[in-house]
Order: sequence, then structure tokens, then C-alpha cells
Amino acid sequence: MSLSSSACPAVLSELPDPPGTSVPSEPFGADAALRAVPNVGRPVGVFDSGVGGLTVLQAMLRRMPHEDYLYLGDTARLPYGAKSRETVIRYAARVSAFLVEQRVKALVIACNTATSAALPALRAAYPHIPVIGVIEPGAEAACRASVSGHIAVIATPATIRDGSYPAAILRRRPEARVKSLACPLFVPMAEDGLFEGPLAEGLAARYLSAIFPVVTGQDDGRGEGQGGERDRPDCLVLGCTHYPLLAGAIRRVVGKGVTLVDSAATTAEAACRVLTERGLARSARSGGGTCRFFTTDDPERFARTGRLFLDMPLGGDDVTLVDL
Ligand code: DGL
Repeated sequence: MSLSSSACPAVLSELPDPPGTSVPSEPFGADAALRAVPNVGRPVGVFDSGVGGLTVLQAMLRRMPHEDYLYLGDTARLPYGAKSRETVIRYAARVSAFLVEQRVKALVIACNTATSAALPALRAAYPHIPVIGVIEPGAEAACRASVSGHIAVIATPATIRDGSYPAAILRRRPEARVKSLACPLFVPMAEDGLFEGPLAEGLAARYLSAIFPVVTGQDDGRGEGQGGERDRPDCLVLGCTHYPLLAGAIRRVVGKGVTLVDSAATTAEAACRVLTERGLARSARSGGGTCRFFTTDDPERFARTGRLFLDMPLGGDDVTLVDL
């Protein structure tokens, strides 16, 4: 695996004006030339509102080490999770237009909030390439992991508002019981590197006690309320790119009997399957294995925070600033 950075490509000046808040039939201004059949040698485009999606990139690097990757973190507009659906669609459209202009062969939306709001619009805008989100793979993993069918989902306010995870889970397991909860402060906490310790655990306890009541060892017999062991979900979906970093603190609050699920590995698996099915996967002998990083705000900060999420050296010089 190697890093590569370059000057901001000239094509940036040709980017279309940002679209309005509605989604017109040609929403992202992609011209016909961009719709050329993608070829195997092209990179895979991955984006997130920030650095959290690097957890998905990391899983993709493990699963598909011979691919080249372009990763864009829209740090200038983070957090997406506190924005309206229309605004998130507009942001995702700009970022995707940039990656498509770099001729990516597939687009991975490594952001739960952007997947929830913009996946159908991006698929409609770029029918010539596979567009893969993180929510269906995450829901799939949760449905496989849960024995009782009682599943909890934590995510940003925007993802919870859209109800995308419960919908995806219930499509697979109509008998499932799904509880959803927004945990907005987990994102700044993870960005500050506060994964463990009293603050992280205190916040996790504050949020999660609504769904995971403290088990006293004395079941009240109804399986409900305080001590209601049977009312506890047996699976918790970490439905936000940042939450896996807080898994230790979350685990201490929910206890051992709950399976924590995140989308990173399952999304990498889904991307691998789609690329293979479409004849777009690189073979082991074809070289590849490079990553180029782009950000819409300070490259140094991207690199500093990104190192918390990515298991590789990353400096400000490895990251290219783009103005979208
Ligand atoms: N990447 C976002 C997500 O997975 C979390 C950060 C944000 O709110 O932008 O939902």
C-alpha cells in the first residue's frame, strides 16, 4: 500500500454549479463523457463527511489490497449528521461529482448520513458505475448477528430521523424489534480522540441507558424496565462512521451479551462482490494498492485526526485540499 498526493486537478474549475435542494433529473451535472464504461484500472472513489469513513477505507484496503483508492473527506461541511436531508444531498452531490470527474470506477459512500439521504439520488445520477452505501451492509450484518431479533441502532440525528436502518432491518427480518437512538456528541468526542475514560463512558451511559437499562440481576418478571434483561436488545448497530472508535466505552456500558455491529467490514465485502460481479475487480498481479486523500478543509487537521482512524502513516503532505 502506498500513499500518493498530487496537486489539485485542473478539472476542478470545470465542476458544475452546486445543484439546488431538490433533485432534478440531471442532478449533478455529469456530462456524457463521464458516463463512459468504467475500466478495471480506475480507482475506487470513497467519501465521507470527514475522517470517519477511513474505517471503511481501512476495511476495503484489507479486503481489496490491490485496488487504487481516492478518498475525500468533506471536513469543511462536517457534521452532516446535524443537517437537513436536502443539505446532505447537496453536499454529497458535490463530493460525488468531484470523484466521478476523476473517473472512478465505483463510488462508496462511507458515511451513514450521506447514504441515508443521498444513495438513491447518486445511483440515479451515475448509473454507469456501482454506487455502494453503508446502511444495507450494516443492516445485513445486524440481522445475521441478532438471535432474538431485538436490535438497537445508534447513529446521527439525520440518520435516525430518516429511519433508514429500521427500514433496512425490517425488510430482512419483518419480525424484528428495532430501537433507534441519536448520539450526536459521539462524533466530536471521537474527533478529539476521547475514545476511552470517564468522559466517553459517562456519555455512553447517559445515551444508552434509555435502551440498555442497568441490569441489577433481579429480573422484574415482566422483562421490562430496570433489570429487565429480556427487554435488552442483543445487538447494537454502530450506525455512524465514528462510533466504532468508541466501541470500548460502549461495550462497558451495554455489557458482554450484546453484539456490536458496524458497517466497515460488510461494506468492504459488498464492494468486493459488486466489483467482481461487474468485472471491475483488479487481480492480485495488476499492481495498485495506492490511496490518494482529498479534503475540503485543513489537510494537516485531516491527517492528524485521520491517523486515529487509519492504520497507516498519514501526514498533511499526503492530503490534497480541494475547493468544492
Ligand atoms: N460520517 C457521519 C456518519 O456516518 C458522521 C459524521 C457527521 O455527522 O458528518 O453518519
